Amino acid sequence: MIRLDKFLSDAGLASRRELKELLKAGAVTVNGKPVSDGAAKVDPEADRVCFRGEAVEPPRRVVLLLHKPAGYVTSTEDPRDRTVMELIPPAYLRQKVVPVGRLDKETEGLLLLTNDGELNHRLIAPKHGVEKRYYARHAGTASPEDVAAFAEGLSLKDGTLCRPAVLRPLGPGESEITVTEGKYHQVRRMMAARGLPVEYLRREQEGSLCLGDLAPGESRELTQAEIEVLEAAP
Ligand code: URA
Repeated sequence: MIRLDKFLSDAGLASRRELKELLKAGAVTVNGKPVSDGAAKVDPEADRVCFRGEAVEPPRRVVLLLHKPAGYVTSTEDPRDRTVMELIPPAYLRQKVVPVGRLDKETEGLLLLTNDGELNHRLIAPKHGVEKRYYARHAGTASPEDVAAFAEGLSLKDGTLCRPAVLRPLGPGESEITVTEGKYHQVRRMMAARGLPVEYLRREQEGSLCLGDLAPGESRELTQAEIEVLEAAP
């Protein structure tokens, strides 16, 4: 059992001071009855706590898979652009999910968001080398020499060294690229370094997860089993 005001503030509804007023105003019910005393005890597993008629979820680990459309920045706030947070259902925003790594504004595809800081770090830390697979449309056609240069580890135009990566030509102007790090504009810069500037980029896979048939702008919550596979990866 925990205090009602702690339960509500942990759920991200408001600060404990603001909650005092809200409780007094009758905004909170427990099992259908208004409760105005923040010190009242609730059982988060058994009691149904509602705020302004909507059920309040206790904090829990959440991992979301979003199909990011082009035109949104990967950021929790931005003064000019729309952010990926605008695509997330409000219940998950209250669970304080944040993006795992980033996709450029014009890049589409698989973007994870989570409120688990440790998992977030694990997925982006270069030492874990989580594979990220992209589909690209680009100028020119990737050659066997380009494939070999990717496999060796490219040097970008500014001298930055990239880890060995996989370039798989799919046909004229189309390739699949798999990298294990997340440098700024990495895939675009790698392709540009080989004279294959990218016109369209979509991330299709990250570790064990695929974009699947989610439409752009749609998201879904990962299952416990999917999260466990992500965590178990080396
Ligand atoms: N590489 C890029 O160039 N852009 C992305 O958004 C992700 C990888």
